[in-house]
Amino acid sequence: MSVFPRPLDAVAFDLDGVLTDTARAHYRAWKRLADSLAIPFDEAANEALKGVDRMGSLALILGDRPGYDDARRADLAARKNDWYLEEIAHFGPADLFPGAREAVEECRAAGLKVALASASRNAPLLLARMEIDALFDVVVDPASVAAGKPAPDIFLAAAAAVGAAPARTLGVEDSQAGIVAIHAAGMPALGVGEPTALPDADHVIATIAEFRIADYLA
Ligand code: BG6
Ligand code: MG
Repeated sequence: MSVFPRPLDAVAFDLDGVLTDTARAHYRAWKRLADSLAIPFDEAANEALKGVDRMGSLALILGDRPGYDDARRADLAARKNDWYLEEIAHFGPADLFPGAREAVEECRAAGLKVALASASRNAPLLLARMEIDALFDVVVDPASVAAGKPAPDIFLAAAAAVGAAPARTLGVEDSQAGIVAIHAAGMPALGVGEPTALPDADHVIATIAEFRIADYLA
């Protein structure tokens, strides 16, 4: 844990795959789309999509296959989102990962600002359904940043919005694209998941239930 403990003023959490199991829901919706197009797609291929925005994810699935103009892509992305919305239709507080609410509350109790830095346009809806929206000082609108993860923009916007220096803002992510984005922003990166899938993280915990802000805060 070489970069930890350190002084911190804020924490920027990713949502999908960190606070709730929507990484699975996104995967199932993309898998349904890929199957409908007879494009091979599996969980290993899905790793590269994690953290990547909707149109970027579609581009990764389609690769250089011909016949997908902008209008067709918009239609496919909308279809995937409809299927994703079906997946999360009944989401509620019980769909938070164990310890997720406590992780955010712990940060607040430690006097830190808390931001959400999710690429998902559906994040505000999910936060509200899981009844944790009031715990965040700011939820960055991914449509407001120029470039998605792995670019640093959304994490820089999160730190700026809560008035914290990037070096004093901990980024928490389950995706390799997100860890790259956090580091590009000049922030320390905590990975959540398989260490082999997150080789660049400064430290990795298996699930958010293991999160203790005291482990990172000096
Ligand atoms: C990220 C997910 O949080 O949000 C990606 O890791 C997803 O899988 C991206 O593609 C965009 O989500 P949405 O809800 O805007 O399509
Ligand atoms: Mg994620």
